[in-house]
This record gives sequence, C-alpha cells and structure tokens, in this order.
Amino acid sequence: GAIGKDGYRHYMEKELHEHPLVIGQTLQRLVDPASRTVVLPDMPFDLASVPRAVITACGSAFYAGMIGRYWLEDIARLPVDIDVASEMRYRNPPLTSGSLGVLVSQSGETADTLAALRSLREKAVHILSILNVEQSTMARESAVVLGTVAGPEISVASTKAFTAQLTVLACLTIATARARGTLDTAGEEALVAALLDLPSRAADVFTSGDAIRRMARVVAEARDVLYLGRGSMFPVAMEGALKLKEISYIHAEAYAAGEMKHGPISLIDRTVPIVASAPYTPLFDKTLSNLQEAKARGGRLLVFTDTKGADRVSAIAEDMVVLPHVHDFVAPILQTIPVQMLAYEVAVLKGTDVDQPRNLAKSVTVE
Ligand code: AGP
Repeated sequence: GAIGKDGYRHYMEKELHEHPLVIGQTLQRLVDPASRTVVLPDMPFDLASVPRAVITACGSAFYAGMIGRYWLEDIARLPVDIDVASEMRYRNPPLTSGSLGVLVSQSGETADTLAALRSLREKAVHILSILNVEQSTMARESAVVLGTVAGPEISVASTKAFTAQLTVLACLTIATARARGTLDTAGEEALVAALLDLPSRAADVFTSGDAIRRMARVVAEARDVLYLGRGSMFPVAMEGALKLKEISYIHAEAYAAGEMKHGPISLIDRTVPIVASAPYTPLFDKTLSNLQEAKARGGRLLVFTDTKGADRVSAIAEDMVVLPHVHDFVAPILQTIPVQMLAYEVAVLKGTDVDQPRNLAKSVTVE
C-alpha cells in the first residue's frame, strides 16, 4: 500500500527522522551481536587478495563512496580509485583483473552506475554493489549485494539511504581490514562499538532542531553558500551543498577547507555564509585555522561541531550546532544528519516543493 508521511510535513522530514532506525537495521544485518564482529555474506572472491578497489556511483551515493575511500585507504590500507559513474564508464582505467568494484546506489537502476558496473565487469573486476533496492537491475548483475536496509525512500533528495550506505561501507572496511591483517581484534571491537553506539547518538541530533532552524534563517537569505570540511568531512560538506542546491535552489559549493586559500577565499564576504563540518577529530585544528582565515575576511561561520570542539568553535562562529562527540571513524555518519536537516529547513522557509524538486527524478534511468 501507499506509504504515508506519518504526520511529518514531507517525506524528506519523515525519512530524516528514520536515520537512527535505518543505521540500526543495517548494522543488525552485518554485525554479529554475540561476538560484536562484522560478518559479511559469503563472497565468490577473497577480500584479502584484491589488489585495489574502484568505487563508483552518482550524486549522494558518490559522496558516500568518497567517505568509503578514506576508510578503506586509512583502515584497510587498500589502494582506492574513485570517480563519478558518468566519467568512470568512459575512462577506461587500466585495472588488474580480480580488483574490487564497489558500486553504490539507492535505486540500483541509475543508468550511469549500471553502465560503469558493466564496464568494470568486462575488465574481470569483482562487482560488489551496495544497494537499497535489492531486487534491481544492478543487483542481478553483481557478484555480491550488500543491502542498505533503509526501506523505501520517497523523497527525491536522498537522506536515510546515504547514512545506510555509509554504515555498509564502514562494515565493508572493517571486514576488508581484518582480511588484510591491518586491524586486530581490539581495533575491530573499538570500531564496531562506535558503530553500535550510532543509532542512539543519531537520535540525539534531533534535539538540535532549534539551532538548525536558526542557521536555516541565515542560509535562506543567501544567494551563494560555501560548505567546508576536511578529510572525511569534505564529502559531508559536498553532501550538504548538493542537498541545499537540490531542494532550496540556492547555489552552494563545497570545498576542502585547506584548498580554499587557492581560490574561493576571494568570494568571501558577509553575503556568502560558510557552513562548516568540524567535529573534534585529528583534523579539527587544521579545519579551525581555515575557518579563522575565512572569518578574518568577513565570512559568517555556521559550524557543525561536537561537545569536544564546542568551546573553541564558539569563540569564532556566528552560530553552531553541537553534536555528541563520537569516535572519528563514525563522525562523518553522524555529521551528515544535521547538514541534511539544514537543507530541509531552508527549503521549507523558501516554500519549495521539497519532496519533488523541479527538474529532478528520484532515479535517473537515462544517460
Ligand atoms: C541525492 O539527493 C540525489 N537525488 C541524487 O544525487 C542521487 O543520489 C543519485 O541520482 C544516485 O541515485 P541512486 O543512488 O539511486 O543511484
């Protein structure tokens, strides 16, 4: 039957509130509760012996893949190549057979991602797809499907499917790292504990609704917005900027915070709000000094941080949202939720058609 909005104003708002549930459901599939270890389905290849990974996807799913790259390189020490599927399908990269192709898609029907899947398969790459719709064209053409268990996503702007994709990529990273011998038992326990803690930390994010709506009033007045982050927070910034563009029609651009001084810093003045994702991770100090540079040029800083970063952020930010402090590994998953909520609140203020933004389709099945 038809899926209702359950009293929420839009499907997007309802789906935003499903983040904690969906992260929990996805973990239930991939984590054994007794041993607290990641258990992936049997695969027709050995994760220990793949020479490299190639990640490809479109839009938000691509940004999830970018975070996956940081994890696979850092934790599993696996070389990773990544590109948007519309480029990957025509790139013809040289690939050793037996490499791992990681395809990420909510629908499993995106034409560019499907074409990239087929071109990787022709190169004898093992196809592992991270899909929300497990009965889809991509599912049928993959050697392994890891489901995101997010349930149907109605809103054109993806929300819960994205955090579910990250949850799967996090588990894939742990399993790959274990297979390659780069993560010991204690290391795995710490990462799994951080993941299992996430659903309740994600539920805490909703207590920041007032602060997010306050930020939304500033963003809604802007013509252009700059999103900043470093490391695994850079794709979070990209996700925030994409979501704002999609549903509020405000131009936004995401930059790696350290790259700003190589160009976009010339854009900064009082009329271009800066939305930064800056939780207390090893890159916190570096990110903060980039934000200080922006502030010195008149930039208005709206910052997403956490309880450990809050004091230092409050000294420079015009406004901030303080999330619970979590393990660095899962920080990008948690920090995604408020940037999506911000885009939602801005779109509501602007009165756009939030669930069905102009010119967009939920799944892009043509090239
Ligand atoms: C996200 O908000 C977008 N609507 C869009 O970028 C989407 O993520 C992209 O088209 C990929 O879709 P898929 O996950 O179904 O492949």
